[in-house]
Amino acid sequence: MAALETKQLIIDVDCGTDDAQAIMMALAAPNVSVLAITCVGGNTPLENVCKNVLRVLNVCNRLDVPVYRGVSTSILGDRLHASDFHGEDGLGDVPDPNAPGLEYMQQGHAVDIMIKLVTEYEGQVSLVATGPLTNLAMAVRMDPSFPSKLKNLFIMGGNMESRGNTTACGEFNFLADPEGAYVVLNDFHCPTYIATWEHTCRCKLPWEWYDEWVNSGTEKADFIKSIYAHSLQYSRSEKEVKGMVSGSGFVSCDSYAMAAAIDESTVTSFIECAVSVETSGKYTRGMMVMDMIDFLNKQNKAFVLNGCDMEKFKMLMLAALQ
Ligand code: BDR
Ligand code: CA
Repeated sequence: MAALETKQLIIDVDCGTDDAQAIMMALAAPNVSVLAITCVGGNTPLENVCKNVLRVLNVCNRLDVPVYRGVSTSILGDRLHASDFHGEDGLGDVPDPNAPGLEYMQQGHAVDIMIKLVTEYEGQVSLVATGPLTNLAMAVRMDPSFPSKLKNLFIMGGNMESRGNTTACGEFNFLADPEGAYVVLNDFHCPTYIATWEHTCRCKLPWEWYDEWVNSGTEKADFIKSIYAHSLQYSRSEKEVKGMVSGSGFVSCDSYAMAAAIDESTVTSFIECAVSVETSGKYTRGMMVMDMIDFLNKQNKAFVLNGCDMEKFKMLMLAALQ
């Protein structure tokens, strides 16, 4: 197999359970250098997001990776959390006596650091965004040339068939900050890959696979098993299965965008079209709009993921827990 090119990543997270898994996937990839992890409020309040990222780094023995605090609310100042699913603390409410303190956080604001790193490594940075897009929207407003200095952008968020997971048509990350998502989908003209809610659901893993994966006996597997226990009460329940696309199974939503960033050949199919976000609407606020008929007359098109090489994906998932 040909060696994969080294990737410089910035990972922007609202660290819930699947963000944790995605970070672990990046840290395990031999072709990846994580320049920084930037935090944004989302699944859980910003302080928890920061603590959670540090916990993940600690389990992976990688507290050397710099972590920065970003924006705590949406652009409009709203707060939407997903405590029901991810737990009050965002990582399944499992006590962790070894949790590193916030003194491990770097000084400086996440948005400033993103701009600094992307300027320093112009054309080389892949940005992976697995939370609300607030930090990214701030970055382009502070430095309009920010997107053009990125190599590419990988987003988990939005929907491709108007199917929501938080409201009827709203996927969590886009719904948590529709204006932030609007700014990013309209002002980031770099190559942009989007793993939508429906896409991630279609690429779910069988529960038998999951059980074997988390019971492999490594410290990282034990960690993932413990933080997922809370959300799995929902994922494995009848109610949640009804809310999912195409039946039951394990979905680590944020890991699909991460896998694409680590190895683009995990993407077996995509829809290339202009995208935007509905910011008003009685039922559709936060819904991703796919302009299949070029009605919006936008030059830049996104790659909306529509197929994943599951064997390669599983290899990345397995490596993450070794
Ligand atoms: C997204 O919302 C969050 O709860 C997950 O971490 C993921 O990023 C899925 O809709
Ligand atoms: Ca997330």
